[in-house]
Amino acid sequence: MKADLYERIWGWAVGVMLVFFFATLANAAIGHGFHPPSHVETIDPRKVFQSNQFKKQGVSVDPGGKVHVTVIGMMFTWMPGELVVPAETPITFHTTSVDVIHGFQIIRSNGQSMVIPGYVSQFTTSFAPGEYLIACNEYCGVGHHTMAGKLRAVPRSEWKAPEVVTAPAAGGAHASH
Ligand code: CUA
Repeated sequence: MKADLYERIWGWAVGVMLVFFFATLANAAIGHGFHPPSHVETIDPRKVFQSNQFKKQGVSVDPGGKVHVTVIGMMFTWMPGELVVPAETPITFHTTSVDVIHGFQIIRSNGQSMVIPGYVSQFTTSFAPGEYLIACNEYCGVGHHTMAGKLRAVPRSEWKAPEVVTAPAAGGAHASH
């Protein structure tokens, strides 16, 4: 097949760009652990505060010793606004919204998820010791820019497990699709 010189140049340029894009994706996914949350669990957004899973928000430890964090997003705040977790420990986050879509993003970590009314978002990640800003990254209304929280990861030896040890109850129904 005869191809014009410029056509060949552009063909190669596109090829190089594609390789670069896929390499970038692979680096983010494998090297930095960025993955889309794939947990599908539904909840009635009008009954979040009464649900076993979300009536108590914040940090908890399940009977197996795993650390969980439950957070409710609402205009224009995260409940609770401050979290203290042990560093270098897998933390499983469970979030949902009682009004509109919010975006739960722990800045300078790979922890982030959309927070959608009707669904429970879940992801697990761990943190180096330090203080992290939690921002809302989905525009949710006039107070969007004020919707911030804080996460402190403290060395495991300094972390005090919450006195009430509860299992985040399997609250919502699992969607069948
Ligand atoms: Cu919540 Cu933007």
